[in-house]
Amino acid sequence: MKTAHSEAAGARQRWRSVRESYDTIAAEYARRIYPELEDKPFDRDCLDCFAERVRAIGPVCDLGCGPGHVARYLRDRGVDVFGLDISAAMVREASRLNPDIQFVEGNMESLNMKSETLGGIVSFYSIIHLDREALFKPMAEMWRVLRPNGFALVAFHEGSGSIHSAELWGHTVNLDATFFTSLEIIGNLERAGFQIDTAAERDPYPEVEYQSRRGYILATKRPPSSTRSTDK
Ligand SMILES: C[S@@+](CC[C@H](N)C(=O)[O-])C[C@H]1O[C@@H](n2cnc3c(N)ncnc32)[C@H](O)[C@@H]1O
Repeated sequence: MKTAHSEAAGARQRWRSVRESYDTIAAEYARRIYPELEDKPFDRDCLDCFAERVRAIGPVCDLGCGPGHVARYLRDRGVDVFGLDISAAMVREASRLNPDIQFVEGNMESLNMKSETLGGIVSFYSIIHLDREALFKPMAEMWRVLRPNGFALVAFHEGSGSIHSAELWGHTVNLDATFFTSLEIIGNLERAGFQIDTAAERDPYPEVEYQSRRGYILATKRPPSSTRSTDK
C-alpha cells in the first residue's frame, strides 16, 4: 500500500529524472523542436484561438515551456506571456532563443505563484511525464493560479498506457511518458473546477513529429457562483 511518504518520495524521484533528462537533451531539443510550429497548422490554429481569448486578460504562463517556441508564438500575437520549466537547461535555452520573454524554473505540481494571478495557461505536452495518479495536482494548481474566467489550453499524447525511454537522440535519459485519453484529461480538469470549452483530437503529422494521436482541451475557470443554478 502506498503511504503519503512513499508517494512524496516517488514524486521527488520522478521530478529528478525529468529535470536531469531534459537538462541533458535541452540543446538538442531546442535545435529539433523549436521550429516545429511551422509544420503544425492545427496547433497554430489552437494557439490562435487561445491568443484571441487571453490577449486582453494576460498574463499567460507557458507551463513546461521547453525551448519556448509556444511562448514565442503567443508573444508574436500580442500576448503577455512568460515561460516556466522544471529543467534549468531548458530555461536557459528558452531565454537564449527569446531574450525578450521571461523564463523561470518551477514545478507545475507546486507553482510558486499567488492564487488568481494569471489570465491563461498553455501546457503543450508538458503533462506527459506525469503518472496517471499525479495528473490532478497540476490541474488543481492551474485552477488556483488562474483568475476567474481565465483559460487553460492543454495538449497531450492521446491514448492509453505509457512508454519508457532510456535513450533519446544519442543521449542517456530516464523518461516515462504517459498517454492520456481526452476523457481522463477532461475528468481531471472538471474535478479541479474547470468548465470544458472545446476538446479536439488529430492524427499525427507524418514525418513531422512522434507518431501518436494528439489531444487539445481548452477550459475556463468559472467562478463557483457562475455555475450555480439561479432557479429558486
Ligand atoms: C515534451 S517537453 C514539451 C516542451 C514544450 N512545451 C513543447 O511543446 O515542445 C516537456 C517539458 O515539460 C517540462 N516539465 C516536465 N515536468 C514538469 C513539471 N513538473 N514542472 C514544470 N515543467 C515540467 C520538461 O522539462 C520539458 O521541458
